Amino acid sequence: MPIKRKTPAKQATPKTRSAKIAGNGAGNGHSSSSRPLLTLEVSPSISPRNKITIPQFHGPVPPGFLHPGSAISVSHFTLEDVGSILEEASELEAMPAARRALRYAKRRVALLFYESSTRTRTSFELAAKSLGADTALVSALSSSIEKGESLKDTGITLRSLGAECIILRHPNSGAPYLLARSTGLPILNAGDGSHEHPSQALLDLRTILAHLPPSARSTAKRNHSIGDRALQGVTVTIVGDILHSRVARSNALLLPRLGARVIFCGPEVLLPECAAAIGPGVEIERDFERALKQSNVVMMLRIQKERLAGLEIDLEDYIEQYQLHMHRLAAHAPAAIVLHPGPVIRGLEITGEIADGPNSAIAEQVYHGSIIRMALLGRALDAHPKRNEQSSKNR
Ligand code: MLT
Repeated sequence: MPIKRKTPAKQATPKTRSAKIAGNGAGNGHSSSSRPLLTLEVSPSISPRNKITIPQFHGPVPPGFLHPGSAISVSHFTLEDVGSILEEASELEAMPAARRALRYAKRRVALLFYESSTRTRTSFELAAKSLGADTALVSALSSSIEKGESLKDTGITLRSLGAECIILRHPNSGAPYLLARSTGLPILNAGDGSHEHPSQALLDLRTILAHLPPSARSTAKRNHSIGDRALQGVTVTIVGDILHSRVARSNALLLPRLGARVIFCGPEVLLPECAAAIGPGVEIERDFERALKQSNVVMMLRIQKERLAGLEIDLEDYIEQYQLHMHRLAAHAPAAIVLHPGPVIRGLEITGEIADGPNSAIAEQVYHGSIIRMALLGRALDAHPKRNEQSSKNR
C-alpha cells in the first residue's frame, strides 16, 4: 500500500552518543474491579508491587460498569465507535470556530494530571476550550495530591465542583478504572502507566489514514463506520521501548483490527518475546533494517527512562542498532512516513534530520491529536445522561 510523503529522503550520517540510563521504577498498581480480572506484570524487572489488575473487556463494556462516554482502552471501542469518532472529528474540524465554541459552551471538564505532559494535556485543554467548555487543570504538584489525597477523593471533589468529565493521566496502569468507578463520570484516559493511551492510537490512525491515497481513504470510512480492511496492506513498525509503552499497546490493539500488520522491533530487554501475544496481526522482528524494508509507517518510541526500574540499556549499542537516521531510512524505507508520540529525544531514537525531514509526520500527529480529542470530549459530554437534551438543543 503506497503512503504519500513530501519529497525523497536525503542521506546523512548517523549521530551517536554514549551513555547508560536507568529508571527509577513505577508506582503502585490499583485493583479496581469485581469483574473478570487480567493480572498483568507491568515489567518483569519492576518490583512485585507493580503486579496490577485490569478489568478484561474486549468489545463493549458491560452495562453500568463504565460511563458510556469513557475512553479508557481502545479494546472497548467497536469499529463503529471508531468510525463515528473519526466522523465526528472531521465534522468538528470543518465547523467554523465560532459555531464550534457554542457546541459545549459552559460544560465543565477537569484535567487531572499526575504525570507531566506537553502534547496530550495541551491538546485536550485546547480541544475542550475550542468547544466552549470551561476547563480546570489539577496537577500533582500544585494540589492536595501533594499532601497525600487519594485519586478517589480527588475525583469525588472534582465531581462535586461540577466536573462532567475527567481527563486523567496517571503513572499507574488501571488508575482510570478506579476513577471511573468512584466518580461515575466519563473518564478519558490520557495515558495510564504502561497500559493504554487510546487518544494517541486514534490520532495515529487519523494520521495514517490521511497519508493513504485518496481512493483508499474514501473506502476506509463509510457510513460512520470503518471497515476491518481500512488499513489492509499497511505495515506499521513500532520501534523501541515496547515493554513500557502505552502507545505501542493501544496501537497494537487497534490497528490490526483495521487490517494493518504491526511489527514490534527492539532489543529483548525492551521487547520480550511474549509481546507478540498481545493479539492477532502483531509480530516481532529484531532486525530494524529488515523491519524497515517492510514498513509503510515507522513509529519510533522514546526509551521511557521513568519506567525502566533499574534496567540498564547501553545507549551506544541501542543507537547503533535502533536509531532511525536518514541513511537507514533512505536505504530501507524511503517512502515510509515516520511517527513519534513525543517527546522526541533527538540523537537517541531518531536524529534531528529525521524529526524535521520530509518523511516526518510528527507535527501532523499533534494536529490530528487536537481534532480527535475534540471528538472524544464531545462523545463524553453527549453521553452524559442529564445533559443529552440540553446539548442537542445547543447545536
Ligand atoms: C506517553 O504519554 O506515553 C507519551 O506520549 C509517550 C512517551 O511518554 O514516551
